[in-house]
Amino acid sequence: MVYSSKSSILLSITIQLLSLSLIQATPSSKWTDNISVEREEILGSAVKSNLVKRASGYTNPADDGGYMLTIVNGTYPAGLGEPLNVILSADSDKAVLAKSLDDGGFLNYMLIAGQGEECLGQHLGSDQSANLGDGKGNVTEVEELRYNYGNPYIGTCQETFNGGLHLRYWIQNTTNAYFMAVSVEMDLNSGHDIVPNGYNIGRDQLIGNLTGQAINTSALTNTSTFSGTGSYSNYTYQTDVQYVSGLLRNSSDDINHYITVEENGLPAIDGLVAVLTVKITAKPQSSGAWLTVSQIPLISVLLPLLLSSILALF
Ligand SMILES: *[C@@H]1O[C@H](CO)[C@@H](O)[C@H](O)[C@H]1NC(C)=O
Ligand SMILES: *[C@@H]1O[C@H](CO)[C@@H](O)[C@H](O)[C@H]1NC(C)=O
Ligand SMILES: *[C@@H]1O[C@H](CO)[C@@H](O)[C@H](O)[C@H]1NC(C)=O
Ligand SMILES: *[C@@H]1O[C@H](CO)[C@@H](O)[C@H](O)[C@H]1NC(C)=O
Ligand SMILES: *[C@@H]1O[C@H](CO)[C@@H](O)[C@H](O)[C@H]1NC(C)=O
Ligand SMILES: *[C@@H]1O[C@H](CO)[C@@H](O)[C@H](O)[C@H]1NC(C)=O
Ligand SMILES: *[C@@H]1O[C@H](CO)[C@@H](O)[C@H](O)[C@H]1NC(C)=O
Ligand SMILES: *[C@@H]1O[C@H](CO)[C@@H](O)[C@H](O)[C@H]1NC(C)=O
Ligand SMILES: *[C@@H]1O[C@H](CO)[C@@H](O)[C@H](O)[C@H]1NC(C)=O
Repeated sequence: MVYSSKSSILLSITIQLLSLSLIQATPSSKWTDNISVEREEILGSAVKSNLVKRASGYTNPADDGGYMLTIVNGTYPAGLGEPLNVILSADSDKAVLAKSLDDGGFLNYMLIAGQGEECLGQHLGSDQSANLGDGKGNVTEVEELRYNYGNPYIGTCQETFNGGLHLRYWIQNTTNAYFMAVSVEMDLNSGHDIVPNGYNIGRDQLIGNLTGQAINTSALTNTSTFSGTGSYSNYTYQTDVQYVSGLLRNSSDDINHYITVEENGLPAIDGLVAVLTVKITAKPQSSGAWLTVSQIPLISVLLPLLLSSILALF
């Protein structure tokens, strides 16, 4: 009798283990699908087809007193800013959203595009602020990243003098999304002005590097999407990009350096923001990071289950 109850407990453990591995095997994209479905139902059918495909994982700063332009001191006229033209959505993998060079974090991801921390820790650009509508008010950038010319150690020194692709970024406290002000700037002698069309081109060079394809800036619309992969330090990232309108205006109004940036009679910015959703699809063999991320939840579910089953034997 005792034996039969023990074996029935063992059987029940086995069944629970099997059902757990089935749950684990279910693709996590199911959740995303359902979130889209819910949003679609709540917001009604008029905007249905857009919302299903539209990226989420961030909020519009303007919804809560913030701005999609940075705050720059001493512009002429006063009050000009630079567009926050790339967003790393918080729907991305948690590891990518960590401000870290390790475990496949944000700083490792940015090195795919050659964007590294500044020359030997010297911060030569001037600080800017942003208000991401997250209750923190005007906040100085986390830091500035610069193109490293393929040399992660001293390459950003070259950018500081030659100009090139660079970005400042902020983290939205309420969502953990990263907001980046990306542009291509002129060399130090030109006072780090922005090159013609340098905000749009900077955004698209960053996206081009992250997804491994050239982006044709003048062909972009608010329905443009791109996907591709890139690797750094044996971490491979899948990047899905949506160009989104409605956050910035297709206009030169309030844009810093607008005089040098406007080109071919077009406004300084096209009003599109590239929203990135990033997943890590491969990682170094030796990395313990993966274990921490995906194994611990399973163990923490299994352990109490096993313990209670074992206790039930006595
Ligand atoms: C997702 O939605 C489908 C129906 O569209 C439903 O069958 C499924 O149970 C839902 N999954 C979750 C995790 O809510
Ligand atoms: C801009 O100027 C204000 C007032 O002088 C100062 O409080 C703020 O720290 C400055 N911001 C940056 C980013 O330098
Ligand atoms: C924050 O920046 C905005 C835009 O430049 C400015 O109007 C506002 O006074 C600033 N707020 C504080 C508390 O400095
Ligand atoms: C939000 O702000 C709090 C307090 O400054 C900080 O501890 C926390 O790490 C921030 N969260 C994010 C996602 O930036
Ligand atoms: C990658 O970035 C570099 C530096 O800005 C740029 O020269 C290059 O064109 C970019 N590549 C793509 C595919 O956009
Ligand atoms: C970029 O797009 C524009 C507008 O659609 C087109 O005229 C041009 O030929 C394209 N350039 C390239 C290099 O494909
Ligand atoms: C794209 O922009 C047009 C105006 O140019 C607007 O009518 C439309 O709603 C926008 N679509 C999306 C998906 O934002
Ligand atoms: C990446 O993988 C290769 C071969 O698998 C290995 O030789 C190399 O040391 C790894 N590099 C890093 C940075 O982990
Ligand atoms: C921005 O406006 C210009 C006209 O000023 C138009 O030619 C262009 O197509 C617009 N760009 C986008 C992305 O809507």
